[in-house]
Amino acid sequence: MRSVILPRLGFAEAWRIQARQLLCEGVVPDNVHWSVEGAETDLFGALQSSAKSVRPVERPSVPASFVPLAEAALCHVSPERFALPYRLLWRLQNDREILGDRSDKDVAAVHAMEKSVRRDAHKMKAFVRFREVGISDAGRRQFIAWFEPEHVILERTAPFFARRFADMDWLIVTPGYAARFERGVLDMQLCNERPDLPDDSADDLWRTYYASIFNPARLKVKAMKSEMPVKYWKNLPEARLIPDLIANAEKSVQAMREAMPTTPHIRTDRIVARLPSPSEIAPDVVPETLDEARQAAAGCSRCDLCRYATQTVFGEGAIGSSVMFVGEQPGDIEDLSGRPFTGPAGQLFNKVLHEVGVDRSRAYVTNAVKHFKFEPRGKRRIHQRPDAGEVVRCRWWLGLERKFVQPKLIVALGATAALAVTGNGANILKRHGTMELADDGQTPVLLTIHPSAVLRSGNAAQQDEARKLLVEDLRRVSAYMPD
Ligand code: URA
Repeated sequence: MRSVILPRLGFAEAWRIQARQLLCEGVVPDNVHWSVEGAETDLFGALQSSAKSVRPVERPSVPASFVPLAEAALCHVSPERFALPYRLLWRLQNDREILGDRSDKDVAAVHAMEKSVRRDAHKMKAFVRFREVGISDAGRRQFIAWFEPEHVILERTAPFFARRFADMDWLIVTPGYAARFERGVLDMQLCNERPDLPDDSADDLWRTYYASIFNPARLKVKAMKSEMPVKYWKNLPEARLIPDLIANAEKSVQAMREAMPTTPHIRTDRIVARLPSPSEIAPDVVPETLDEARQAAAGCSRCDLCRYATQTVFGEGAIGSSVMFVGEQPGDIEDLSGRPFTGPAGQLFNKVLHEVGVDRSRAYVTNAVKHFKFEPRGKRRIHQRPDAGEVVRCRWWLGLERKFVQPKLIVALGATAALAVTGNGANILKRHGTMELADDGQTPVLLTIHPSAVLRSGNAAQQDEARKLLVEDLRRVSAYMPD
């Protein structure tokens, strides 16, 4: 048995040198006992037998993808952290493809270790909280931080902090290790004690910051704990706030809702000044033309959405258009422009129409709900899906548009539009590409997904797939367009 004792600092580099040496000597993995200085080693076992060697590897080599995997695995707390990468290194000399085989036990284990170390390093970069302790003789501000990572990652992550906080001197201490950065020089040290941390006003700053970015309306406790795992909370000043923030989330959401009218968009005043005021519009008179309907809708207060949106976004297109496209509701851009489908979803919609040979200017384009529903977040207004009550109230206007335009085909873009036109809001993914009848029992309705569902699909491949689906569904529209 060969016993290899690695230093506590620089263990990764030392492992690399030792592993290469062992490989060159042909020492089989089962005959190596790895440990770090100071840790208990099974010396008795190590002295029992001499290392068994097979034919030496003359020129060890590995695929490039092995290096980052091994470097991460070496930092894992597992007792296997040195032996497993060596075993893989050994096996790679005979089979360079094994790393691609995730069903292999060693390969799966090294990937799991790499992932866990990478995640821990990521969390360390996010959760180290420095406290200011003074000014150095050279006039640099000095900071100190205590952090408890899950793995042995300080050497691995310290260069990140050196780049990020290059203009200050700092000390990060973790159980067993310290990284000191002074005047641009990074130095790693062993250390066994937690430093005394001063009380710091920066803690209050963190708490204020955290409380201000905490959005009770978006609270998902499980996702939050995955982002900020509970094991890191004890060293995070802001974590003390979390239980209260969670407990009061519901009340805060209610307060946010009530505060909404006080956060109009910056351009709202100018736009609203150009609109007819509700008092100029007779609400009880049933409009007799599409234009009258448009004017009346401008002062609509059939539901609460009118209180927060900038303006009503009515449909556009000619009376007698053969095809009527119905979306969900105006978005942020449409709310300001006053025209449907002019924002990012509208741009995609235009491209897809072009692709399937449909001229938008010869169709009627509108929405199930005519006011933008949103939740204010900082300076942004985040889209919120209208609820069934809002859809039903707004059907008054959609009904008038249908009455005056008299389309031969209605295209429902997404579930909200489908609900508004057919009365059925069931899952659109199960219905897309099919025709149903509108609630008048005669107008055909083509159902498809909403263009923003394409934009919201996860990665590029999923977006591609969703886009294809929309294109395929909309191909059926051209048959209804006039020549
Ligand atoms: N989404 C819609 O449903 N309609 C618009 O007008 C814009 C985005």
